Amino acid sequence: MKKHEIAVIPGDGIGKEVVPPALEVLHTIAEVHGGLSFEFTEFPWSCDYYLEHGEMMPEDGIETLQNFEAIFLGAVGNPSIVPDHVSLWGLLLKIRRNFEQSINIRPAQYFKGLRSPLTNPNDFDLIVVRENSEGEYSEIGGRIHRNENEMAIQNAVFTRKGCESAMRYAFDLAERRNKHLTSATKSNGIFHTMPFWDSVFDVVKNDYPKVETNSSHIDALAAFFVSQPEKFDVIVASNLFGDILTDIGGAVMGSIGIAPAANINLNGQYPSMFEPVHGSAPDIYGKGIANPVGQIWTAKMMLDHFNEEELGEKLLDVIQEVIADDIKTADIGGKCTTDEVSTEICNRLRALK
Ligand code: NAD
Ligand code: IPM
Ligand code: MN
Repeated sequence: MKKHEIAVIPGDGIGKEVVPPALEVLHTIAEVHGGLSFEFTEFPWSCDYYLEHGEMMPEDGIETLQNFEAIFLGAVGNPSIVPDHVSLWGLLLKIRRNFEQSINIRPAQYFKGLRSPLTNPNDFDLIVVRENSEGEYSEIGGRIHRNENEMAIQNAVFTRKGCESAMRYAFDLAERRNKHLTSATKSNGIFHTMPFWDSVFDVVKNDYPKVETNSSHIDALAAFFVSQPEKFDVIVASNLFGDILTDIGGAVMGSIGIAPAANINLNGQYPSMFEPVHGSAPDIYGKGIANPVGQIWTAKMMLDHFNEEELGEKLLDVIQEVIADDIKTADIGGKCTTDEVSTEICNRLRALK
């Protein structure tokens, strides 16, 4: 019996509503499969925890998490009680950085029965590889106050190692898929970092002669994502560009409520973290209508990480069937609650036994 010990952080808002059903789905998979089990240890680290303790996680929180094989997280952020940069840098970004989760894998693909903003959604299937530990997300900079003049400076950090590692990951993925890689750039307007990004890409691509490449400026690329998503295979992007592109990817599928993500520690020294693309959605929290599919598809990515790809594929098939049969939450045009969708997914998984 293979046992996976997983740290669970539901976090804030709808994170607390979509994580329990996703755990139920994982338990169901274990029940159906037999040779596998999950042990979940839950941590209440969140903005509510911050109000009580003055920090988003205990001082030894990182040490505690290090003992787990993986981290399964809902969403972090409740800006009505804790400023976002405090809550996110105190928990989500802290975990990504301490555990060197330098790659963020974010797929988007066409699902039958999903209401997309596209009039004729074609059969698209793409993966964004987002550099996840540096780039535009940096703590370097400051605010300057001089008389009535005020300004803020934010430095972006692009290391050869960081760029190259994301690019190699993306090339390897493209080699196993449709052999096309797009680099998201902005070297026409950003003077230092983006020409550097392009130059690293030009060197790395020589090692992958089978992969066709192109570079696209992020503004045009964002538009192509909406107008021609079927033209893409793998896209490699810096941290912020990848962040923005993957919300667009979610919207093009039909809702960011279904988009999954995996934060990967490449050398396996630390746990990787699995959390959907969406946030804590305070506007719908408490209504029981959050779409659980993003969190459940994220569980599928965790199964892939545990080398249980076959089970992962089965789960994705069931998710797609449930959506195609119109068992959907309101964000994708349905009337079901969070629990109705996840219960149906569990029932259909049991029926596979
Ligand atoms: P958001 O993703 O929470 O919400 C954007 C819109 O999408 C909202 O209208 C919301 O209702 C909808 N939505 C999101 N997930 C949904 C789901 N599963 N089902 C149905 N609808 C869904 O983004 P935001 O409003 O910019 O951020 C809210 C909070 O979440 C902020 O504190 C932000 O910093 C945080 N956030 C956290 C993460 C994370 O922890 N990974 C990611 C993004 C945002
Ligand atoms: C995401 C989120 C985070 C990010 C925020 C909440 C810091 O938007 O995971 O996509 O920008 O990485
Ligand atoms: Mn985001």
